[in-house]
Amino acid sequence: MATIKNLKDLYIDGVKDMHSACKQSIPVTEEMVRAAQSEDLKKALEASIKGTREGMASMEKLARAHGADPAGEHCKGMEGLAAEARKHALEAEFADEDTQDAAIIGQYQRLAHYAITGYGTLKAWAKRLGFNDDAKVLDQCTAATYEGDEDMTRIAVKGGINKAAM
Ligand SMILES: [Fe+2]
Repeated sequence: MATIKNLKDLYIDGVKDMHSACKQSIPVTEEMVRAAQSEDLKKALEASIKGTREGMASMEKLARAHGADPAGEHCKGMEGLAAEARKHALEAEFADEDTQDAAIIGQYQRLAHYAITGYGTLKAWAKRLGFNDDAKVLDQCTAATYEGDEDMTRIAVKGGINKAAM
């Protein structure tokens, strides 16, 4: 790994890390789509995969705009979160479908929150570095991820999954 000399290097390293995080979160979310029972939940997870693909494409563009290879990093954080999601929401034995749906939502939100915090830090660094176009892209990524996260809360709470799981 190359030495990180300054905020710009740190920023590019972070963009690559987010690219890896997006990439790794897609297959585990696809597995959650297949395991989910609620149609609303399946749809929300599918929509989030589309958003993640867009986020991944955005990270690729940002990396390339700064002359960096977007594929040069492996995010250990998302690797761990994906393993957690598989363990607690997919591989665990559930006697009740709604309870598994509640588990899926909880695990999905961990992935989403990790992405939100990653995008947020990158946006702050982009602004500090004067990369205003990058900051706008990162803002859109954050907003899209937030929207997906809030959809999930709506399904869990208003949609009644948490209640049905009792
Ligand atoms: Fe990471």
